[in-house]
Amino acid sequence: MRAVVCERYGPPEVLHLTEIAKPIPAAHEVLIQIKATTVSSGDWRVRSLEVPAGFGLIVRLVFGFSRPRQPILGSELAGVVEAVGCDVSRFRPGDPLVAFSDAAMGCHAEYICLPEDGQLARKPSNLSFREAAALCFGGTTALAALRQARVQPGERVLINGASGSVGTAAVQLACHLGAEVIGVCSAANQDLVRCLGASQVIDYQHTDFSQSGDSFDVIIDTAGTAPFARSRRCLRPGGRLVLLQAGLGAMLLSPWQTVSSNKTVIAGPMSVKAGDVAQLAELAEAGVYRPVIDRHYPLEQIVAAHRYVDSGHKKGHVVITLDPED
Ligand SMILES: NC(=O)c1ccc[n+]([C@@H]2O[C@H](COP(=O)([O-])OP(=O)(O)OC[C@H]3O[C@@H](n4cnc5c(N)ncnc54)[C@H](OP(=O)(O)O)[C@@H]3O)[C@@H](O)[C@H]2O)c1
Repeated sequence: MRAVVCERYGPPEVLHLTEIAKPIPAAHEVLIQIKATTVSSGDWRVRSLEVPAGFGLIVRLVFGFSRPRQPILGSELAGVVEAVGCDVSRFRPGDPLVAFSDAAMGCHAEYICLPEDGQLARKPSNLSFREAAALCFGGTTALAALRQARVQPGERVLINGASGSVGTAAVQLACHLGAEVIGVCSAANQDLVRCLGASQVIDYQHTDFSQSGDSFDVIIDTAGTAPFARSRRCLRPGGRLVLLQAGLGAMLLSPWQTVSSNKTVIAGPMSVKAGDVAQLAELAEAGVYRPVIDRHYPLEQIVAAHRYVDSGHKKGHVVITLDPED
């Protein structure tokens, strides 16, 4: 089968398309033919080792010291079950699926084997494979961030970096929870963020949300530009700040900032729960959540796709297609 491999850390050019053996499902696994996948900010971070301050060594320990231990990147997919192991009961050949392999990655290939009890769900019938492929990375992160921030109906939630993969999901999911959503993005993305449900949009190039005199119950910072020092003055008493790009120092400081203020600071990797992908698939089926697609590239153009993701300015998701007919 064809797969894109990353045999060393570095720029997009370290990736190359190659032929490798097609995997065979173990007893509890499903073999999925991948129709579409994405290049996410997570793929960019693992490939380039550009990680928040203090995490370089930790990321090398987790993903491989001198090169990625798992050379096939890609953490989400939409595809069709081709075969199942002898103990699999949830899925059958022909079932259309979405799946999130998370840090185990392996989705930038024509086939993958995943455990049937992993983060797998039936593909929402109202999404194409291209759209469904982008359901999980931003969606699971946004779901976890909103859960950890305990967002309540009627609360004012500011999403800083509202136009990326996590931001576009967070705007839609926070609106679904009944929050009043304020999105921060560049002028070019204002219409998009408003269409997703934000009641107000702030252009970060012209207005500093923390100086506007406005206040918020929750701030979710996907852009890495709203640390506690900047956000605290506009967080209401009891407010929660979620820092998705926190460095190790900010993460270690967050418990102290929480106990020494009347606010809660949540920093570091979000914990995705079993059932999150199934919940996202249900929300998509119900028309509540729809992944935003910026560009799509065929698998052969994976280097160009990574170059675009590296810019840090994609709108929603960048999809890689493996089935030209979808
Ligand atoms: N902690 C976790 O568990 C976790 C999980 C997933 C992702 N992350 C991290 O979360 C971050 C966002 O991920 P993503 O996938 O959403 O990235 P992305 O899709 O690349 O989106 C980044 C967005 O940030 C916006 N942006 C850039 N500079 C900004 C600024 N100064 N103010 C406001 N918005 C700004 C960009 O919009 P414009 O083009 O309009 O500037 C772009 O749409 C990444 O650093 C990723 O590593 C953390």
